[in-house]
Amino acid sequence: MRRPVIAGNWKMHNTVAETTALVEGLLATRPPASVDVVVAPPFTSLPAAAMVAAGSPLGLAAQNVHWETHGAFTGEVSAAMLVELGVGWVIVGHSERRTLFGETDRTARDRARAAQRAGLTVIYCIGETLAEREADRTFAVLSSQTDGLGSLDPDRLVVAYEPVWAIGTGRTASPEQAQEAHAFVRSCLERAFSPAAAAALRILYGGSLKPSNAHELLARPDVDGGLIGGASLDVDSFSAIIRAAADRAAGV
Ligand code: PGA
Repeated sequence: MRRPVIAGNWKMHNTVAETTALVEGLLATRPPASVDVVVAPPFTSLPAAAMVAAGSPLGLAAQNVHWETHGAFTGEVSAAMLVELGVGWVIVGHSERRTLFGETDRTARDRARAAQRAGLTVIYCIGETLAEREADRTFAVLSSQTDGLGSLDPDRLVVAYEPVWAIGTGRTASPEQAQEAHAFVRSCLERAFSPAAAAALRILYGGSLKPSNAHELLARPDVDGGLIGGASLDVDSFSAIIRAAADRAAGV
């Protein structure tokens, strides 16, 4: 049984003071031990989050990482800089990085490789746009986005399927659409790695995941958790999603 992952992608939200309050609030809910719970604050809030979460099982993720170890790359952060802060995870290839900041499959893979070399676990994001879904190209897009992932270490990899049309829109993939896409992604990962490695890989759903739809999405066999934006900014809604994941782990 794959251990669920619930990861909160805070995007460009939460100052140091807000981060401290949110992480304290989250830890006060005593997240269940059966779920890997991760938060991804902005870079500037990572040290504060690390300080509050020290000694707890809460995982810390960065939202991006550069592929080189150091150098003249204004505005970028290396994997070693993140590791030094106590960060264990990193989100790579998020659709906002792809559409707003020119991220490609190639640069995302390079970032993922560098992150894994430094010991980080990568949450690698893929997903089709609305135009691609409507043109029946969903599987072709997912196939090309997962192509080449075979050079990564599957033990430090989590894949997030995030249909772009569902991110921040309030529109969610139906449980059937999510399961269909996740099963297809798993078949791509079988080719990239091996059937055994693909069977062990966690595939998260992202895109307007919230307490009201978490249970039915997380009940699907290939939906092993979630990458959550908006609903991760509030302790009550994020912890409700974590509880839904704990139900999955318990087979409820
Ligand atoms: P959302 O964001 O939950 O606000 O749709 C998900 C994501 O971008 O990871």
